[in-house]
Amino acid sequence: MRTHYCGALHRAHLDQIVTVSGWAHRRRDHGGVIFIDLRDREGLLQVVCDPDRAETFHIAEQIRSEFVLKITGKIRLRPEGTYNLQLATGEIELLAHDIEILNHSATPPFQIDDDNLSENIRLTYRYLDLRRANMQSNMRLRYRVTKVLRDYLDENGFMEIETPMLTRSTPEGARDYLVPSRVHAGEFYALPQSPQLFKQLLMVSGFDRYFQITKCFRDEDLRADRQPEFTQVDIETSFLDEEQIMQITERMIYQLFQGVLQVELPQPFPRMTWTEAMHRYGSDKPDLRIALELTDLTDLMRTVEFKVFRAAADLPNGRVAALKVPGGAALSRKDIDELTEFVKIYGAKGLAWIKINDVTQINETGLQSPIVKFLPENVLQEILQRTQAGNGDLIFFGADKQKIVNDALGALRLRVGKPEGNWRPLWVIDFPMFEYNEDEKRWDALHHPFTAPKLGHEHFLSSDPGKTLSRAYDMVLNGWEVGGGSVRIHQPSVQDIVFQALGISPEQAREKFGFLLDALQYGAPPHGGLAFGLDRLVALMTGAESIRDVIAFPKTQRANDLMVQAPNHVDEKQLRELHIKIR
Ligand code: AMO
Ligand code: AMP
Repeated sequence: MRTHYCGALHRAHLDQIVTVSGWAHRRRDHGGVIFIDLRDREGLLQVVCDPDRAETFHIAEQIRSEFVLKITGKIRLRPEGTYNLQLATGEIELLAHDIEILNHSATPPFQIDDDNLSENIRLTYRYLDLRRANMQSNMRLRYRVTKVLRDYLDENGFMEIETPMLTRSTPEGARDYLVPSRVHAGEFYALPQSPQLFKQLLMVSGFDRYFQITKCFRDEDLRADRQPEFTQVDIETSFLDEEQIMQITERMIYQLFQGVLQVELPQPFPRMTWTEAMHRYGSDKPDLRIALELTDLTDLMRTVEFKVFRAAADLPNGRVAALKVPGGAALSRKDIDELTEFVKIYGAKGLAWIKINDVTQINETGLQSPIVKFLPENVLQEILQRTQAGNGDLIFFGADKQKIVNDALGALRLRVGKPEGNWRPLWVIDFPMFEYNEDEKRWDALHHPFTAPKLGHEHFLSSDPGKTLSRAYDMVLNGWEVGGGSVRIHQPSVQDIVFQALGISPEQAREKFGFLLDALQYGAPPHGGLAFGLDRLVALMTGAESIRDVIAFPKTQRANDLMVQAPNHVDEKQLRELHIKIR
């Protein structure tokens, strides 16, 4: 039904007779002449219908938006001065000889090139939304990305192996999606949060290098960069240490950006320990395009009377830190009040600040602030010294438990800072093995319970779990965690101690992960790997603000599919077969 794609025609096709098929993007009546912009996967082509050809013209008059057409005609140059340089086909047009309406279309709920649509409308009519040029280009780029990644992994000896979707609860720490079993009354499968345990088992089986581009399912609070089902580029290797795993995957991402975007990422990717990242940026995924950094003041504030700061500095896990905003003295009271409300989302109880009017005057004239009167001069001097603040700057303060200060000032940094430059990848390394769960009064795995402790740190596992570092690493790009992984535990004895530290009893471990513990006893090789979030990578590469824009059929923030209307109620018969009664 076609000789060419619309968007692929240009000057070189002048005077040729071609047949194109596609959708009527727009129809314009110009006093006797009808123009149709015909759209297909490759782009738009202007079609001209002259009244001389009465039959064709008559058909053209009936065409409405999104009709499906097959048009044969002759390619000619547009008249001088009517070139459309925005379009690849902008110098030519198709003079229609013959038009066939292949299908009619109801009036679409929106104009396909409308850029101001609500996301609800877009997701309800996703099949129409996907006709839009930028969605077509996002999906195309996504395909290119998986193609380049597959080729790279194949060239490097990786083999793609599928793992089950109907399985048991896996250990990534989110809630599971459960699937009831009809055959086994009262029992459930879990959809995998990742292929973590299966890929480790594949290493025990001797496959040496595995990868899989696969769906993962996590029932967690959704955000712009989180979907309940998302895609991982999942990787596992045997007999490689963290250095080698990071090298091989860093090269993969480097070549990906080079191949798909013609972008040269900095080489090698810089590395930063988790502790340094938290200290300087209040985040384990710092956006290095933003220059602002936190300054630690905890030690200094142990010497002051001002209760807000002193109490936080005296906490065993407390922190007082400053964020200097160059030029921030221009912020109004209203701006500061808004930012104070903003940090409260992260648990901050307030947001103290100092505007620097004149650094030479260490008093309430030179330093405009609600807290200057509570701080002695030498402390104020030291704050100015440490933050290197100058006239016209503003300093924000956070004082609380470390986690709250880091979360609040880390988020504030992203909110008030301006990203500069393009691509800033980073490896974050030396993560702690565990984080303390205040609510449950126990240690949780920061990555997952199969992550190996850093060599030489094994003895902390029982003596001082909080001090143990792990062999985990995250790849961060422009403030997004695009991938993460670790070297795994391959000795059952170490795995036992880690379970102990996590307060998982041998019986519980057996009940949950017995198959893995068994497998580790039959000659498990040293192994490790990581997983990239494909949706996040593609969103970054396309400049999309949400990963929903790079997933063909995503869910809303409330985990609904508005198009097929899932989740939905099912009938009583189906529930009965599954032995389920709704509470
Ligand atoms: P992790 O849980 O860090 O590690 O996941 C790996 C990467 O997957 C992406 N990601 C998500 N993307 C979209 N929506 C989500 N809800 C979501 N959750 C995670 C992130 C993240 O870096 N089994 C381990 C990997 C390993 O150790 O090899 C794992 O799943 O980009
Ligand atoms: P207050 O003594 O409560 O009036 O607070 C004085 C200043 O300190 C105000 O600007 C508050 O916003 C700020 N503030 C209060 N609690 C904190 C905190 N935990 N961290 C940072 N600033 C705070």
